[in-house]
Amino acid sequence: MVTKIAQITDTHLFADPDTLMRGVAPWHSLKAILERVKLENPDAILLTGDLAENGDAKAYDRLFDLVSPLQIPTYCIPGNHDRIDLLKTHLNRSPLFTTPNALTFDNWRFILLDSTMENPKFGEGCLSEETLSALETTLNTSNVPTAIALHHHPVETGIDWLDTIDLINTTDFLAILDRVDCVKLVVFGHVHLEIDRTWGDVRFYGTPSTCTQVLPENPSQSDRYPGFRWLELYPDGSHRSRVVRVPLKSGESP
Ligand SMILES: [Fe+2]
Repeated sequence: MVTKIAQITDTHLFADPDTLMRGVAPWHSLKAILERVKLENPDAILLTGDLAENGDAKAYDRLFDLVSPLQIPTYCIPGNHDRIDLLKTHLNRSPLFTTPNALTFDNWRFILLDSTMENPKFGEGCLSEETLSALETTLNTSNVPTAIALHHHPVETGIDWLDTIDLINTTDFLAILDRVDCVKLVVFGHVHLEIDRTWGDVRFYGTPSTCTQVLPENPSQSDRYPGFRWLELYPDGSHRSRVVRVPLKSGESP
């Protein structure tokens, strides 16, 4: 059976649905994204951090109100903009979940990691020793095809300022992946940009935000649009992935 997953990231919601962030209304653009996701009928949704712009409790309630009617199991991890305590209390309501951190889909394992740290200087992230140790233990329990999701990017983007706010202990993370051969892919948010890299046998996928984007050199029009990532996990351990962009309509931007 093919498992279909939608990764939705960096929703940056405000308490007021009409508040703009750099010219885009995050609530309205997320609503448009979710309408598109619903058409694809995924088995699960991953929300990979920066779910609320200011960590506002009302913003988490807005997110729950938008996502829960889809009745699709939705798993949430935090980003550097989030208030983890509020995220856990407001989004741990079915069909949204903030735990567990290891999911099973058919013969695939999906591990969700919290890469946020206390008092980052500029929004960078870190995997704690405890998280890394638990990750290695989980990976060693069985050799099933495995995907990992976290907020911060563990690969370079090539954009200077963005690479100063990455996962600061990427080396430790990659060393663990190097000691196993079950990890097939890593998905992350934070970059507001489509990324596709290969490191060894592992694919690393960065995903556009559902609101504002970081633009690559010579951007196309679609690079400016909100988007989400579509993942298909196959029983033989292979996978396919693509980014789906949803053009903004009036009301979602000025
Ligand atoms: Fe973000």
